[in-house]
Amino acid sequence: MTENGSLGRNLAMELVRVTEAAAIRAARWVGSGDKNAADAGARDAVRDALAFVDMDGVTVISEGEKDQAPMIPVGSHVGNGNGPQVDFAVDPIDGTTLTARGLPNAISVVAVAERGAMFTCAHIAYMEKIAVGPQAKGAIDINAPVKDNLTRIARFTEKNMEDLTVVILDRPRHESLMEEVRMAGARIKLISDGDVAGAVTAAMEEHPGVDVLMGIGGTPEAVLAACALKGLGGDMQAKLWPRNDEERTAAAEDNLDLERVLTLDDLVQGDDAYFAATGITSGEFLNGVSFGPNSARTQSVMIRSRSGTLRFIETRHNIGLKRQLPMGQAYLPG
Ligand code: FBP
Repeated sequence: MTENGSLGRNLAMELVRVTEAAAIRAARWVGSGDKNAADAGARDAVRDALAFVDMDGVTVISEGEKDQAPMIPVGSHVGNGNGPQVDFAVDPIDGTTLTARGLPNAISVVAVAERGAMFTCAHIAYMEKIAVGPQAKGAIDINAPVKDNLTRIARFTEKNMEDLTVVILDRPRHESLMEEVRMAGARIKLISDGDVAGAVTAAMEEHPGVDVLMGIGGTPEAVLAACALKGLGGDMQAKLWPRNDEERTAAAEDNLDLERVLTLDDLVQGDDAYFAATGITSGEFLNGVSFGPNSARTQSVMIRSRSGTLRFIETRHNIGLKRQLPMGQAYLPG
């Protein structure tokens, strides 16, 4: 902690450097068809870049377990050990399939919060989620019928039901959810992957065309999105969603209540969370990486919950020059 009790403003910028490095590395694999290679490259870039970040971090959320994909191990220490003690959450690529297929909306994403602040659950890969922006804060109840939620969201946002758009992952498990949304009279935006971007865009005033994310997605992605929503003033609820008896047994052994509604404050406690994401492939949320001769351009977003600041950061990286710097002065993106 710094003297004024916060984790420090510079940390946010440091985190953007991490996602920039991961996105640039992942971008080399766009369209390659090899999602594991993309994930491994991005993970290595995250690990390399983290070595220069002033923090004493412990990885508590790391995407990759459910797909047995390359990942930063949960429990691993990250940062150079010189800064504040923090929880660290990472998904080097949210949208590995999008990256491998050259489709829009793949991002690299990390988040940091005070030590012990993030909800952790290693054994259950999925959560049911509902996420909205500031105007609909207080309108959601994950246990209520879809129509009731949408009716309240419409009232809070002063929109007509037919003008609401619900982002949903395009999965067979969401057939009945989609049916309920249609019956209620709202619109649907299906995404093939990437529900971190889905939740965050639903809460951003820069994206007025998306109002709510609903459905079942990854547990790590829920906590990452929650860190962003804190800073955006949005709202979110989630419930663990075990896939099978094995996960139900693991939940019972861990004394996890599967009926518990996790609020935004349960997903990430306190008001000192940082979220950074960089686009890998271009989409509504962020522009993807583009390369020039010896250079790369990235677009990132950085959100700091204590101040509620959201920054878009456009960066031109001189890859040739960075390669000449001694290790320690620059990690080597690309
Ligand atoms: P990865 O690219 O990190 O594997 O995740 C993509 C993603 O679409 C997430 O955004 C989402 O939470 C999750 O997968 C949904 O899981 P599944 O693809 O198994 O339905």
